[in-house]
Amino acid sequence: MIIAVDGPAAAGKGTLARRLAQHLDLPYLDTGLLYRAVGRRVLDAGADPADPAAAEAAAQALMPEDTARGDLRGPAQDEAASKVAAIPGVRAALLEFQRRFGQERGAVLDGRDIGTVVFPEAKVKLFVTAHPRERARRRHLEMLGRGQDATLEAVEAEMAARDARDAARDVAPLVPARDALLLDTTDLDAEAAFRRALALITGKS
Ligand code: C5P
Repeated sequence: MIIAVDGPAAAGKGTLARRLAQHLDLPYLDTGLLYRAVGRRVLDAGADPADPAAAEAAAQALMPEDTARGDLRGPAQDEAASKVAAIPGVRAALLEFQRRFGQERGAVLDGRDIGTVVFPEAKVKLFVTAHPRERARRRHLEMLGRGQDATLEAVEAEMAARDARDAARDVAPLVPARDALLLDTTDLDAEAAFRRALALITGKS
């Protein structure tokens, strides 16, 4: 069984997808980490993440262990990831890895285009959203927890720019699949979001 969990930044996708995977005993893949690792490689090479040649070379050279680096989160990494993610050659290079990951024994994958592009035939598709202010509040707390300094306003503005870039790109833009189940987590904590998702999934299968 493939479960696709898509949605904008800090909507609660990762926490939810991880819990669903554990509950259903399925492998879990955070596909955002792939784009983050590509962005990181480009930055490390001193290149521009928006440069297609540099980004495609980084995507082709990507090793799965690159996603285990500890320095993939933060405003510079967010921006680099969403810039490389808009480049068609980068997305093509990462597509096969994602498909292979899910093919063997099913998986829960979270990202932006899992239900629309990577696994359009997924049995369950969730599109997870929350009010932008609430998403910014969660991301801001995460950043403070990592010792990264920023104002809530700056986090909200950067997140809005990233969501706009993800939604406006030509390839695999951030949009709900037509058959996605919508889950708004604005007023839900992680436990409530998990229970709601399970109810949606059970109702569907
Ligand atoms: O999910 P996360 O915020 O870690 O993703 C980082 C960036 O990677 C997103 O802003 C988006 O540009 C890109 N991404 C994507 N498609 C995915 C997962 C992430 O374009 N399936």
